[in-house]
Amino acid sequence: MTSVPVIQPLPVHVAIIMDGNGRWAKERHQPRLFGHKAGAESVREVVETAREVGIRHLTLYAFSTENWQRPGLEVKGLMALLKSYLKSELATMKKNGIRLGCFGQKERLPDDVQATLDHCIAETVDSTGMRLNLSLSYGSRAEMLGAMQEIGRKCATGQLRPEAIDEQLFSEHLYSAGQPDPDLLIRTSGEQRLSNFLLWQLSYAELYFTETRWPDFRREQFLEALQVFVSRQRRFGKTGEQV
Ligand code: FPP
Repeated sequence: MTSVPVIQPLPVHVAIIMDGNGRWAKERHQPRLFGHKAGAESVREVVETAREVGIRHLTLYAFSTENWQRPGLEVKGLMALLKSYLKSELATMKKNGIRLGCFGQKERLPDDVQATLDHCIAETVDSTGMRLNLSLSYGSRAEMLGAMQEIGRKCATGQLRPEAIDEQLFSEHLYSAGQPDPDLLIRTSGEQRLSNFLLWQLSYAELYFTETRWPDFRREQFLEALQVFVSRQRRFGKTGEQV
């Protein structure tokens, strides 16, 4: 039994861009899907660790709107992997009080994946522990445009006055409605960019980039990222003396 470290202050919401599955596989002379399968094991381990240490919200970038352009076989493999992950993890999620959610264009997912996802979301809706948000067919600009269209419709029908549009109202029209903004963004595998992920929500997040490929990013590496977060001073625009 591993001990649970105390991390103070703990980020309330952690978002992760899980990058490097393909390169991890290539380095082992294996097909890309081999990397994604190993990446699914990292997902299990990081979700479990996050829950153990007390993270309240964990958002994982599992499939972007741009990822649909990947070779058909890879997309099919990723969808199958997602479905099998959800099926195999549902009992654990329920046992551990995890509430599953989806950020993204759920309707674009294959019918069987959508059905499995909807089932898991419904089965965990009453869980009061960690919120696990899977970003699937997700793109931040599309998310914000959708929010603007919805707000525009409300203004056009007189439900809403344009002057009433503020940051909170805009946030309430995003997939992340009701959840706090991420405090920490982790991106694995060396790239230092946001790739259309949570552009509004990440405004004040601490950014943590690591060379580690996602399949090698496990409990120890996640705890290390949390310790780096602890060492950062978050000023939210104030001076160091004011905070
Ligand atoms: C990025 O690596 C990773 C993805 C596009 C998919 C992420 C999927 C998983 C971690 C596994 C399945 C997910 C769940 C939730 C069970 P990449 O393929 O872009 O790697 P590369 O940049 O090295 O090619």
